[in-house]
Amino acid sequence: MFCPSFYPHRETRTVAVSQRRRVSTTVPEPPVTTGRIHAVLDRVLDLAHADDARALLAGGRAGKIVLRVPEGSAFTEARERIDMIKHHLGPIEVGRIGLGAMGMSTAYSASERDDDESIRTIHRALDLGVTLLDTAEIYGPYVNEELVGRAIADRRDEVVLATKYGLVSHAGGGPGHVDSSPDNVRTAVEGSLRRLGTDHIDLLYQHRVDPRTPIEDTVGAAAELVKQGKVRYLGLSEAWLDTVRRAHAVHPIAAVQSEYSLWTRDQEAEMLPLLRELGVGLVAYSPLGRGFLTGVIRSYDDLADDDFRKTNPRFSRENFDRNLALADEVGVLAGEIGATPAQVALAWLLAQGDDIVPIPGTKKVSRLEENLAADTVELTPQHVQRLTNLAPPAGDHHEQSQMATIER
Ligand SMILES: NC(=O)c1ccc[n+]([C@@H]2O[C@H](COP(=O)([O-])OP(=O)(O)OC[C@H]3O[C@@H](n4cnc5c(N)ncnc54)[C@H](OP(=O)(O)O)[C@@H]3O)[C@@H](O)[C@H]2O)c1
Repeated sequence: MFCPSFYPHRETRTVAVSQRRRVSTTVPEPPVTTGRIHAVLDRVLDLAHADDARALLAGGRAGKIVLRVPEGSAFTEARERIDMIKHHLGPIEVGRIGLGAMGMSTAYSASERDDDESIRTIHRALDLGVTLLDTAEIYGPYVNEELVGRAIADRRDEVVLATKYGLVSHAGGGPGHVDSSPDNVRTAVEGSLRRLGTDHIDLLYQHRVDPRTPIEDTVGAAAELVKQGKVRYLGLSEAWLDTVRRAHAVHPIAAVQSEYSLWTRDQEAEMLPLLRELGVGLVAYSPLGRGFLTGVIRSYDDLADDDFRKTNPRFSRENFDRNLALADEVGVLAGEIGATPAQVALAWLLAQGDDIVPIPGTKKVSRLEENLAADTVELTPQHVQRLTNLAPPAGDHHEQSQMATIER
């Protein structure tokens, strides 16, 4: 049995293994070769993720393995970190699949909450190359930011941390009230920083456009926070063309976050061309169609009574069966290429451009691993076309009152 206490003096060396993809390399001293890593892994079989690290090497995937190297030459611990292909949101480079944290605290069913498993999921995501983590003050409200803050406390520098303001009015309206007044932006960010346990937010989105506050005032206030170092980059969520242009004229917008998936395609005709003209990235939320495209949910009655998808028109009794045909088509293609439907749904999004970053949500390690493996699924142009041609779903993508908050 390997005994770390034999080695009182340790230091951490980062070893990059790059056989297929480009990764930055910190050459350790003394040099650690791939052969030596194999030898090390043979000795750390008892450690979590050693198998993944070996698969990483055997499969020729690029990645980083962080080795704790004792003085001398023996190794006591190995933790793998697999690098993912990178996509760009304006100036921000991120692993091309992110992680949405919303469902860990709220939506879709409160009865399924499991904070310990959620934190393991976030940690595993970081191990597997995710950098973009997505939360918002309205998720919970507040508790989702607290959960994310706890999870990243020791790993803050590995994360591109994104949160959102504007769906909680701190002037008395409370959660669910659209408010992007400059005062509310400032108050919201102070709260988010506190709950996330950080001194800066990497990507700060307006969650919904506030019809009562000119976007110039909102973005002006957020830009002040950038100047103060509390925020690095700005984003918008579910904003439409004119708002995006006006906001971008006040301060560069790095990303727009909107629903985008095989069954929600309204970003394609006008928004994507505009974002590309401006150099703004698109973060695709609900990329799995809120779970529907994975084929796991087979009937309206599969949903718990408190699952808010029961109010979503696409999940209604009336539309459910019609929409199953779409999920089944995704499943057929997945079967043909030896992937899962979730992976196919994500791979289709990844194929739309390196300025698009899906943020699938899950609170389970196993599903996270499944989803992130979409990074290695390569669809042919024929597959992409087949998926692009799928018939549109029945029903709006939000219920009526939510649709009213989405700018179009
Ligand atoms: N800007 C906005 O207005 C907005 C709106 C909605 C969402 N978002 C963001 O986008 C993120 C993702 O969206 P989302 O959670 O609504 O939808 P999603 O990612 O399309 O789907 C999430 C649902 O799919 C399930 N799931 C995940 N992976 C699965 C797999 N491999 N097989 C079967 N089921 C799977 C999850 O359940 P389990 O958790 O049980 O695995 C959850 O019920 C959110 O977390 C949030 O950060 C933003």
